[in-house]
Amino acid sequence: MKAVYPGSFDPMTYGHMDIIKRASEIFDELTVSVLNNVSKKALFSVEERVAILKEATKDMPNVRIDSFSGLLIDYAKANDIHVVVRGLRAITDFEYELQTAQTNRMLSKGAVDTMFLTTSLEYAYLSSSSVKEIAAFGGDISPCVPNFVADLINVKYNRA
Ligand code: PNS
Repeated sequence: MKAVYPGSFDPMTYGHMDIIKRASEIFDELTVSVLNNVSKKALFSVEERVAILKEATKDMPNVRIDSFSGLLIDYAKANDIHVVVRGLRAITDFEYELQTAQTNRMLSKGAVDTMFLTTSLEYAYLSSSSVKEIAAFGGDISPCVPNFVADLINVKYNRA
């Protein structure tokens, strides 16, 4: 069975990698897809985010990296994918994720369902926005992202 793990991935963190690794062990093929959201100001371009994800997953043969714009269910349908994977860190994620999952199920007339993986406890506190904030103020982001990603982030903040 195929699944899609959608997100902004701006940038990808160890929390995302944890979900990618575990979902890739459950599904035959996992597509990690970066949302091309024109209204959201991003640190990395979609192309850069795709390149980072490709590098981080190069040893995972059943993981494919892609990007999409528009509705997730239209992308899923076009790729013949019926399962969306999302990670849940804490109760604060729940309301948004529940609403999105139910909306996607309604919009797709039941064709696209969502499965949640609970984030490993060691990454439960991690978010892309806090990683960016730490980096912007010169803090150490090495516990949050792979070294090559930390270097790319620090270049963006002129801290390399
Ligand atoms: O990493 P994020 O920003 O939490 O990911 C959110 C994402 C990309 C999964 C979500 O915003 C999404 O699927 N956007 C595509 C637009 C869409 O399908 N919206 C309908 C559901 S409300």
